[in-house]
Amino acid sequence: MSVTQYNELITAASAARSLAYAPYSGFQVGAALVTKAGKIYTGCNIENVSLGLTICAERSAIATAVAEGNKDFVAVAVVTAGKKPAIPCGACRQVLAEFNPSIKILAATIDGKVQEFNLAELLPFPSQGILEGSQDV
Ligand code: THU
Repeated sequence: MSVTQYNELITAASAARSLAYAPYSGFQVGAALVTKAGKIYTGCNIENVSLGLTICAERSAIATAVAEGNKDFVAVAVVTAGKKPAIPCGACRQVLAEFNPSIKILAATIDGKVQEFNLAELLPFPSQGILEGSQDV
């Protein structure tokens, strides 16, 4: 990815963050996924009074992209406020791994701090165990 694409993805995640529905935590999150063909899909967190039914920004972006027929993701940007960038939660790591276990992750704050990761560092062995037939005894 070029620096321009990298900045474009963070800008898209930042715009999506402004649409977050986060009345309970007050913590707004925006995510933007880019596909191999360069198409960008965005998402924001959508909270629920039950709390447990909250949807994270990353999974909301994935749902939109897949529903529109795209799942060949190469990178995802996540934008939040706060001192340190927020990196995807465990549930989102597993859902991202479904489509690309080594997707690039750009975690950024609204004031420009950026950290880069590869999902393989954050979630090694995403499907060993209960998946890939390992449940066979
Ligand atoms: N959240 C995300 O949207 N993505 C993450 O990677 C971490 C957490 C949301 C869920 C909840 O609405 C709020 O941030 C506080 O946890």
